[in-house]
Amino acid sequence: MKNIVVVGAGTMGNGIAHVFAQQGFNVALTDQNKQQLDRAAATIKKNLERLRDKEKIDTNLLTASLDRLVFTTEPANYYKNADLVLEAVSENLQVKKIVFEQFSKLTPTTCLLASNTSSISINILANFTDRQDKVVGMHFFNPVPIMPLVEIIKGDATSEETLTTIKALATQLGKTGILANDAPGFVANRVLLPMINEAIRTLGENVSDVAGIDAVMKLGMGHPMGPLQLADFIGLDVCLSILEVLYDGLKKPHYQPHPILIEMVQAGHLGVKSGRGFYAYTNDPKNPEVAYKNHP
Ligand SMILES: NC(=O)c1ccc[n+]([C@@H]2O[C@H](COP(=O)([O-])OP(=O)(O)OC[C@H]3O[C@@H](n4cnc5c(N)ncnc54)[C@H](O)[C@@H]3O)[C@@H](O)[C@H]2O)c1
Repeated sequence: MKNIVVVGAGTMGNGIAHVFAQQGFNVALTDQNKQQLDRAAATIKKNLERLRDKEKIDTNLLTASLDRLVFTTEPANYYKNADLVLEAVSENLQVKKIVFEQFSKLTPTTCLLASNTSSISINILANFTDRQDKVVGMHFFNPVPIMPLVEIIKGDATSEETLTTIKALATQLGKTGILANDAPGFVANRVLLPMINEAIRTLGENVSDVAGIDAVMKLGMGHPMGPLQLADFIGLDVCLSILEVLYDGLKKPHYQPHPILIEMVQAGHLGVKSGRGFYAYTNDPKNPEVAYKNHP
């Protein structure tokens, strides 16, 4: 495996492209939005430089990693030689359907087709393709260069050969691959998102304010980040999409997205990526101020 195409250069796509390039793969990162690609290129460079400054990589590896990366809105030529294509486009079934149909048309039949989806069924995605045995979930965590987990999702038709290859690939990227079967939200988000939703409900019922809820979970439970800040970090639109898939699939009330979350997404307050969610990230992104005020 040598040539990788990563589709979607948002929060996740840039981190995924970064780790593949750093581990020696040729990576084409593509997005329909040129500005997103420019931002991703700047983010990857900044993150590699930070690793160099911390002496985790040397200057040669920094330069070589950047040389292995291509940023393009026209991926057709890269698809032709791809060994693996991995999509990290928006968490929306219709958007992913178009991407998986393109994968079938434009990549060689030997190419593995992976999704970084947080919650959408791998079986449904596989149905959009001409090679269900080669479709697999490869669910990375944010920030990708740092987080050591890849949840590997097996669809009903995913072959053992595909799983073995992807598990080995995760190891090659310095990650631990944990296998999960195809069920709404897999393991990570099925467990995490009800906590985030409950934190929003706790806020909505005025039990405490944003800073108070996050402080309780950090200081009392040892979480490195409170659930509301984590929601901002994931992206409130992504959280909403995941909860919709979970509620649709599992029909339990604690998965039903809280109205505050829906309203914030409708208002364009998507968290870190839009500059504002439960916190405001425009002044000092490392020490964001609370933006959602509820407490009397
Ligand atoms: N945000 C997280 O913490 C997180 C963690 C794990 C997995 N995921 C999953 O990763 C995927 C991407 O999430 P994200 O947070 O990076 O989203 P994002 O909104 O930051 O980025 C999505 C990108 O996809 C691009 N895009 C949309 N349609 C496209 C198309 N047809 N072709 C090419 N590019 C297209 C958009 O322009 C955008 O740049 C989702 O499936 C999400 O559930 C997200």
